[in-house]
Amino acid sequence: MENIEICHCKHVTYNDVDKALHEGERLEDVLAAFKKVQDETACSTGCGGCYNDIVDTISRIMHY
Ligand code: FES
Repeated sequence: MENIEICHCKHVTYNDVDKALHEGERLEDVLAAFKKVQDETACSTGCGGCYNDIVDTISRIMHY
């Protein structure tokens, strides 16, 4: 599960998202977190088809 690839254009995995989220300051909302994860991993900058999956993954990581 951890190494599942979420963004196929940029080869961003669950682990990459998790790591990007845990480095640095705590973010209070999912969209701010998305921006940070995108800056660090370039996820969702290709076809954009993974956007919902990335957002889902971020909210899952942040809310547990
Ligand atoms: S799969 Fe993420 S941008 Fe295409």
